Amino acid sequence: MTESIQSNASQHGNPLPKRVLSGMRPTGKLHLGNYMGALYNWVRLQREYECYFFIADWHALTTDYADTSNVKQNILDVALDWLGAGLDPDRATLFVQSWVPQHAELHLLFSMITPLGWLERVPSYKEQQQQIGDVSAGGKDLSTYGFLGYPLLQSADILIYQADLVPVGQDQVAHVELTREVARRFNFFYPAKPLVLPEPQALLTPSPKLPGTDGRKMSKSYGNTVLMSDPEPVIRQKLKTMVTDPARIRRSDPGNPDVCPVFDLHKIFSSPETQQKVREGCTSAGIGCIECKGWLADAVVAELAPIQERRREFEAKPDHVWEVLREGSARARSRADQTMQQVRDAMHLPQIEPAGVAR
Ligand code: TRP
Ligand code: SF4
Repeated sequence: MTESIQSNASQHGNPLPKRVLSGMRPTGKLHLGNYMGALYNWVRLQREYECYFFIADWHALTTDYADTSNVKQNILDVALDWLGAGLDPDRATLFVQSWVPQHAELHLLFSMITPLGWLERVPSYKEQQQQIGDVSAGGKDLSTYGFLGYPLLQSADILIYQADLVPVGQDQVAHVELTREVARRFNFFYPAKPLVLPEPQALLTPSPKLPGTDGRKMSKSYGNTVLMSDPEPVIRQKLKTMVTDPARIRRSDPGNPDVCPVFDLHKIFSSPETQQKVREGCTSAGIGCIECKGWLADAVVAELAPIQERRREFEAKPDHVWEVLREGSARARSRADQTMQQVRDAMHLPQIEPAGVAR
């Protein structure tokens, strides 16, 4: 990470480290795309920064409000994958969004100052409505207040911690941009010294696009994923069916790794030596695709082995996992409360507790 931005910490007059916040909707067990696109980076960030990572269960409700039967299990599954991947509750604050009601409180205050047009113009709003919001095609009714407010709730998630950096994928950059605009508008209406809501930066994590088994972007909705928690035989089976260079039809045809999604995964998971071996074997028809995919499976299995081992340990004690989330949420609440006090002061709203009361 070599960005050279002024940290909010220094704007606030205290030294590093910067504060990092990010969240994930609980959509069930995570796949390799989630791992490489987010988790892998988070595990590294927690060593350098003050990190807050949360499970955005309210955000899941913006689209999945009609059937909430999986929410609890999905939260647990995400938490297990997080802990398995090496997120460490002693280094990072891991919590559940709905257990920190201050997010909702700040979201409500933001709803007062945010013009409707700002939300209607967020690209994901119309895109998602087109993709999954057509009721006549069996989709979900997304003409709801909550769905329109999705990115504003996200702004509250970020600003309630006065976060400096928000590690996200390209698809979330517009939401961070909205967050900056909301912060600016808040600071304009309710000026204070220092400003209550510093503008966060998106931290674009350098993560390669991960193809799924059908060659399209790995995504739960395409059914082309390899899960972080898939057992070894499942991983091998899924990768065996993966699409390859379409021009390589017979074993005797030479292939081109540069157009092959299997090779894209080799580039992420395999050693340079293996990649070289694949390139030579593929272009000379010296190896078959089955063999090539076997090597890929070896690398993926090796990468996931320690993660799955750790996941199993936590899986055996779910009460402990819930406790980790409870403790993290308590820490998050007290940090969020600090910001809410500054917010109330700046807005000249009365404080809940009289000044000087220990909390
Ligand atoms: N919208 C994000 C996603 O779909 C999840 C999210 C919710 C988030 N609140 C956040 C990410 C705050 C970063 C910061 O991936
Ligand atoms: Fe793709 Fe490997 Fe087959 Fe070459 S040998 S086409 S890289 S799967």
